[in-house]
Amino acid sequence: MSSKQNHAQWSSRMGFILAAVGSAVGLGNIWKFPYMVGESGGAVFVLVYLLCIALIGFPILVAEWMIGRRGQKNPMDSYSAVAASEGKSTSWGFIGMVGILGAFIILSFYSVIGGWALNYMTKIAGGQFSGLDSDAVEAVFNTMLASPSTLTIWHTVFMLITGIIVALGVTNGIERAAKVLIPLLGVLLLVIVGYNLMNGGFGEAVTYLFSPDLTKLTGEGSSDIVLSALGHAFFTLSLGMGIMIAYGSYLGNDVSLLSMARTVVILDTVIALAAGLAIFPIIFSNGMDPAAGPGLIFVSLPIAFGSMSAGLVLGTLFFLLITFAALTSSISLIEPSIEFLEERTPMSRTMSVIVASIAIWLLGVAALLSFNVWSDVMIMGNNIFDFLDKLTSKFMLPIAGLAATIFVGWVMNQDSVRSELGLSGGSWTLWQIIAKFVAPIGVIIVFINTLLN
Ligand code: PFF
Repeated sequence: MSSKQNHAQWSSRMGFILAAVGSAVGLGNIWKFPYMVGESGGAVFVLVYLLCIALIGFPILVAEWMIGRRGQKNPMDSYSAVAASEGKSTSWGFIGMVGILGAFIILSFYSVIGGWALNYMTKIAGGQFSGLDSDAVEAVFNTMLASPSTLTIWHTVFMLITGIIVALGVTNGIERAAKVLIPLLGVLLLVIVGYNLMNGGFGEAVTYLFSPDLTKLTGEGSSDIVLSALGHAFFTLSLGMGIMIAYGSYLGNDVSLLSMARTVVILDTVIALAAGLAIFPIIFSNGMDPAAGPGLIFVSLPIAFGSMSAGLVLGTLFFLLITFAALTSSISLIEPSIEFLEERTPMSRTMSVIVASIAIWLLGVAALLSFNVWSDVMIMGNNIFDFLDKLTSKFMLPIAGLAATIFVGWVMNQDSVRSELGLSGGSWTLWQIIAKFVAPIGVIIVFINTLLN
């Protein structure tokens, strides 16, 4: 939906939920969550992540929708409009700008991984993994990474599909398809979990994911675990990008923000945890390294598909569904840049789509080169890909999200917040404790801790 539609409202609650779930569920759940768990040592990360989702992500999701619903405009102007109506500075609109830039950067590397998923779909369909052992599967992945042209081709295809969907204005259709395809993705994850139950490594994976060693929270690197978990909570719920603010601006007053947020958060979390149970048993039963990094799902899942009887079909379908989930997120990620160009420059919508797609694509090419020819190019100790990822997840998203809770907890008139949420008595007090104190202070503590360490 573009803001040029004069702020129409969602035709149905379902439309809103589908768009929000479509944006939230994506590579963040299936590709990023497992490898971050692996890099951060397992269950401790999962525990902190779940706390961040419940105590910080959930209230910020509600806060962002509320700002959009009250402002009825694009993220920048919604902040300004609501601030102005409360007699506060309109410079809050600046936060909207951080979001536009953040979405732009995220999509650049997101599209590279979307390209990997597309490439893997064709590889599995072509039977490339049939009967391969873990070393051979890893070799296939490394060969892909070493080839700038392969990575560029698939990144281009993913970006092209995203641009075409948005240019044709068929995002609603894509979101409606999500109603069938996201649950199907869930079912396939369960099929893989079922396969794992019979093929070993399951108990080890459950312990790895759910039995935290709390001493890791005091040792060296602990603040990085917490900041990573916080950043990922924002990433996976699409917070701090202005995207949920934009969605909220199309929302009618009859919709309960709290119950909508509960649905989105539960679905998103369940899919991430299921992805963990689909991947780690394969890692352990094949003696692989859980801290292998961004390639984790690409070196583990093909092993399972390569040895299942219906692996060819299931594997192809699985990577097709991941690509689809990635597309429902990427169409939300490209929208802020397009709207910005459309509203602030004389460009038409189509021209805005073209310009935004090319600019994002170019940055994505720089990101993918960090897996091969530019692997030595470092920005503040990180290659380009990691730099873009960390800059957004660990800094831009949490800062923009922090602003959203401060705005709703402290800047907006609390009587209107209460009536907007329909809360009273104890539940209103609980909301206030979380929105005014727990969420913003949580983010601030994590930041200070990281800076001090
Ligand atoms: N939430 C998406 C995922 O988990 O894959 C990624 C994403 C979409 C991040 C939109 C941020 C965003 F604004």
